[in-house]
Amino acid sequence: MARHIDILEHPQTAIEVATATLAEGLPIGLPTETVYGLAADATNPAAITRIYETKGRPRFNPLICHMSDLAMAERYAIFDPTSRKLAEAFWPGPLTLVLPLKPDSGIHPLATAGLDTVGIRVPKGFAGDLIRAFDRPLAAPSANTSGKISATSADHVHDDLGERITLILDAGASVVGVESTIVKVEDGEMRLLRPGGLAASEIERVAGKPLKRKKKASAAIEAPGMMASHYAPGAAVRLDATEVSENETLIRFGTPDIAGIEKAVAVLDLSAGGDLSEAAANLFDFMKRADATGATTIAFSHIPDEGLGEAINDRLRRAAAPRE
Ligand code: TXA
Ligand code: MG
Repeated sequence: MARHIDILEHPQTAIEVATATLAEGLPIGLPTETVYGLAADATNPAAITRIYETKGRPRFNPLICHMSDLAMAERYAIFDPTSRKLAEAFWPGPLTLVLPLKPDSGIHPLATAGLDTVGIRVPKGFAGDLIRAFDRPLAAPSANTSGKISATSADHVHDDLGERITLILDAGASVVGVESTIVKVEDGEMRLLRPGGLAASEIERVAGKPLKRKKKASAAIEAPGMMASHYAPGAAVRLDATEVSENETLIRFGTPDIAGIEKAVAVLDLSAGGDLSEAAANLFDFMKRADATGATTIAFSHIPDEGLGEAINDRLRRAAAPRE
């Protein structure tokens, strides 16, 4: 059973125990502002193998490597001017940049799935402090079984992976609630590989140029693992609901008119006031709660595709995708 440490009450113990656990090559449950990560030493092949095994994740799906700051990131990857501008504007924060790996960077090919690029992110808060203390990049996917809903609290990590890891650091609920936005710059053009916790419009404003959306067909190759059914609760998921049927739990955004709402097993309000940041922060926790109501289907009312709505709708489409 995993040991829990509250990082607000015991920050120093958390750093000491976490660095010792990481040095042993063991993955830990690590809070970040987006979601909780399952973090391990990105230079240690045994440690990275444990991440894939703990999650049941396919090894062709590369991991994001987390750094303490831009200076640390520059030891491992080559920055073009646009990527540097984005890093300076948004790090620490919910932005991952895919960049060419430096030769002999020390990041193990298991972390990058053998690619000559690396996805790098500088997380906000405690995770950055821990990486600074450990002085090695941490590979960290979301701390959940592959294909399931991402963890946004230490309890989520505990319920899913608590038997399989030795340490979970607890910083309360993740503030952003959805994973980082992934961007790759090629020949000066910015491509959005995954919408996430930093709105595309913010990135375009700083860069002064448009973010190109990926074509559906090439996406599987570009960001492997991004296409299949993912974020799947036990219940079926139905989107853009305008009415509710028996045995359905409704997750609502704003207060739209929903016919048959009195039939719902339960009604959860992602954000009654229609705030997309609040909705993103609540999303994964509410999906788990809705699942726990025992409904056969979770119905979502329409969520606009602007701002963080793009990331929310991306996750919901995957949650609703046909399962294997
Ligand atoms: O917010 C986040 O990004 C969280 C927290 C823990 O930092 N991490 C996260 O990691 O969501 P993960 O492993 O669930 O998602 C990583 C995504 C995958 O879709 C992977 O294919 C893509 O990043 N990726 C990683 N390295 C890549 C690379 N070199 N080229 C293209 N895609 C890459
Ligand atoms: Mg994930």
